[in-house]
Amino acid sequence: MRISVFGIGYVGAVTSACLCDSGNEVIAVDKDPVRIKCISEGKSPIIEKDLDVLIDKYVKQGTLKATDDCAEAVKETDISLICVGTPSREDGSLDLAYIEAVCAEIGNALKDKEEYHTVVLRSTMVPGTAIDLCKPILEEASGKKAGEDFGFANNPEFLRESTAIYDYYNPPKIVVGGIDEKSAETIMALYDGIDAPRIKTDINIAEGVKYADNAWHAMKIGFANEMGNILSDCGVDSHKVMDIFCMDTKLNISKAYLKPGFAFGGSCLPKDVRAIRAKGKEKGLETPIFDALLDANEKQVSRALKKIKASGAKHIGMLGLSFKAGTDDLRESPLVTLADQLLDQGFKISIYDPNVWQASQTESANQSYINNVIKHISVNLVETPEEIQKDADLFVIGNGNKDFSSIIQSAENDNTLILDLVRLDEELEKRDGYHGICW
Ligand SMILES: NC(=O)c1ccc[n+]([C@@H]2O[C@H](COP(=O)([O-])OP(=O)(O)OC[C@H]3O[C@@H](n4cnc5c(N)ncnc54)[C@H](O)[C@@H]3O)[C@@H](O)[C@H]2O)c1
Repeated sequence: MRISVFGIGYVGAVTSACLCDSGNEVIAVDKDPVRIKCISEGKSPIIEKDLDVLIDKYVKQGTLKATDDCAEAVKETDISLICVGTPSREDGSLDLAYIEAVCAEIGNALKDKEEYHTVVLRSTMVPGTAIDLCKPILEEASGKKAGEDFGFANNPEFLRESTAIYDYYNPPKIVVGGIDEKSAETIMALYDGIDAPRIKTDINIAEGVKYADNAWHAMKIGFANEMGNILSDCGVDSHKVMDIFCMDTKLNISKAYLKPGFAFGGSCLPKDVRAIRAKGKEKGLETPIFDALLDANEKQVSRALKKIKASGAKHIGMLGLSFKAGTDDLRESPLVTLADQLLDQGFKISIYDPNVWQASQTESANQSYINNVIKHISVNLVETPEEIQKDADLFVIGNGNKDFSSIIQSAENDNTLILDLVRLDEELEKRDGYHGICW
């Protein structure tokens, strides 16, 4: 393939050299004469293991060139990869000036090009940027339509500086968001021979993945450091703790707890986060991540309440009151908090939760808690699904009890709105008036 790479920084320089190494011809484009000179002399513009060797080799072979001539680079190649910088503005938002400029330049060059060309964004941009900003600029400048007259895709970069070349050949995954199949296939083919999961998806999702990745990596580091600070001040070897922590690939280093949904609750998580945070405070430590965890959890309950208020519904049918299906344990259930707040704000509520109902009627560990501590809430418990189907104008699906889906599907009034806090069932999502809490 003949490829132009826009931006000869960390990403662009590594990508250019590795694409040549995989048998492609590359024209690297930059505004910075120093970077162009570096490449042209067979040198690396950045310090990165083995990069200078590759650049030197492919410049000598004639398959790697550098220029500031955008139009020529587009004309001479089949694919343009955009790797320009997307730095932070003072308020934290992205400065997209380089992206806007490069899209306008490539668009202009496409105007005069007859052959099919594919434009790919490798720069990191928040979800929506490619479609809402880059695509219109390219289309206006070229007078052509993305997905019809030229290919358009996003292909996030997962390399880490210092191991960038190794990472190029050993990525955790290859993600391509294409405006159409042809665009996605064209870009995927660049990675033939690389052994990694290959994921074709929407452009917005590809952009979102990059942010989920990096926010998660930052979260892991912050979490490990905060945990380490507390452990070490308690005289405990934090590395030994985290080594054992990482051995748990069922609940810790795993998919568990990583689906967006409702607040956490139950008898352990809130209590234990509070306790380890209190230990840190006792040692004179700041615990910003644990503070934020508890705060974020409360905010997720507020988000549900806001959505219920915005729906205009007056009578809320809550399906589930315990924090998860298959238990009657109500300790620190965020659904109890939500029910409390709904009553405070004057909503009428009916709650169907067979486990909690049963616990309220029979001698059980939870009976006195249900009948005394949260009596104002438990008086709204109903015994049968029919009672909730009859009156509610909004169902709130609070936990993953699979029966809740058929209860909603069989309700006579199929205009009843739905707020789903757990993403219970794909079928429900097709109904009018369905809303997920964060999907
Ligand atoms: N550095 C990393 O490890 C890394 C990893 C993954 C993703 N990213 C993302 O990739 C993008 C690039 O990052 P970087 O670290 O390589 O940036 P960088 O600042 O090192 O390089 C950007 C280059 O783009 C050039 N440029 C600006 N406008 C141009 C134009 N109109 N035409 C041609 N060149 C132009 C600049 O002169 C510069 O050489 C960013 O969005 C970044 O967030 C970076």
